[in-house]
Amino acid sequence: MNISIIGSGYVGLVTGACFAELGNKVICVDNDEAKVALLKKGIIPIYEPGLSELIKNNVGKKRLIFSSSIKDAVKNSEVIFIAVGTPSLPHGEADLTGIENVAQNIALNMTGYRLIVEKSTVPVETGEWVKKTISTYVKRNIKFDVASNPEFLKEGSAINDFMHPDRIVIGVESNKARDLLVSLYKPLNAPIVVTNIKSAEIIKHSSNAFLATKISFINAISKICDKVGADVKEVAQGMGLDKRIGPSFLNAGAGYGGSCFPKDLDAFINISEKMGYDFNLLKAVKEINEDQREFIFQKIKKSLWIVKGKTVAVLGLSFKPNTDDIRSAPSIDIIKRLQEEGAKIHVYDPQSIEKAKAVLDKVHFCKDPYEACKGAECLLVITEWNEFKELDFIKVKKLLKRPLIVDGRNIYEPQKLEKIGFTYVGIGRGKS
Ligand code: UDX
Repeated sequence: MNISIIGSGYVGLVTGACFAELGNKVICVDNDEAKVALLKKGIIPIYEPGLSELIKNNVGKKRLIFSSSIKDAVKNSEVIFIAVGTPSLPHGEADLTGIENVAQNIALNMTGYRLIVEKSTVPVETGEWVKKTISTYVKRNIKFDVASNPEFLKEGSAINDFMHPDRIVIGVESNKARDLLVSLYKPLNAPIVVTNIKSAEIIKHSSNAFLATKISFINAISKICDKVGADVKEVAQGMGLDKRIGPSFLNAGAGYGGSCFPKDLDAFINISEKMGYDFNLLKAVKEINEDQREFIFQKIKKSLWIVKGKTVAVLGLSFKPNTDDIRSAPSIDIIKRLQEEGAKIHVYDPQSIEKAKAVLDKVHFCKDPYEACKGAECLLVITEWNEFKELDFIKVKKLLKRPLIVDGRNIYEPQKLEKIGFTYVGIGRGKS
């Protein structure tokens, strides 16, 4: 099939490269000409395992091209995916300016039937607006369909998530649109859920909101565990074996960050309010998540007594492992809070240091975890990168001024570390 993807950000690039890999001819479009020029040279502006190779391979086979012209893309593709950003406005509302712009541009350049698919995460009823916009701007009486096909890609495993999805959600209003999308996804052999457009839009927001709720739920439980001497890891294991609950997204810790959960929750709360429903549950989820950062700071303060003038070695900046993304990362807030209290910061992360340099001030960036530990009075783990799980703790103990570990992701076994002589503070491990 000839398809195009408008918006060559994270979602657009992964989607475009994967559709090309499945044998389609794909045009990835972006209005940032400098970005398109880099992509044409094979330089990929984001870090995602396997993406660069996939792009190179499909460009080589002439199934994937990059362009800054929506006109060419619309002319040459029957299916057009919109994958532009939908950032948060100050009150949490999703900014849909980019979507409207693209819809207008598609309408002005349509030469025959087109299927326009929302891929970006958008609030319910955006499909209606896209339809109205295209009807308003289209030159002649050209037929078109609008569909919603939300993405569920996780950063760090996006290609695998695309190729092996749990489900594909297709929100459509015509058989033609359904058949086009079903045949596009057929090679993946995954369950396809066909719904109306509004249901598909809500499936995306509610899936992310539900996952965020699971995280905040277990983080709330971690507070009770701390108070009574229970271990949240044992509690999560005991809960997760119930098939109705499931074991995933029950890791207590520094809480969620990234480009999706915080933004999507804000947008969902906002659109619900507009529809006349006060989504108190999600407001609490958000509050618990934000509070988790202060909770970790307070644990450090309680252990160190006086924070001012002490050095904290922070391991991990990215909002989760296997990505360089620091958007809404707990690390940034926790580091700033520690600095506010007068702490000195040593920090190491395998991927995110360059990005963090733009947002953190007066921080000593280190080349490995051991350099970070040197002379510090507390070792704080905020992101559970694999290399932090396998540290040489005898060496760490020698390097630290004081053998204190605050494990913000519960990656260590308390007894093992206590045996070596560390004071271990976890999240909901019943020790603090
Ligand atoms: C998420 C959704 O999973 C994906 O379907 C959607 O398309 C985009 O948003 P992503 O933001 O890449 O993907 O990360 P994910 O792996 O889902 O983790 C989200 C956050 O939750 C991370 O900050 C992670 O550290 C945190 N988390 C996850 C927990 O704190 N505890 C858990 O048990 C699981």
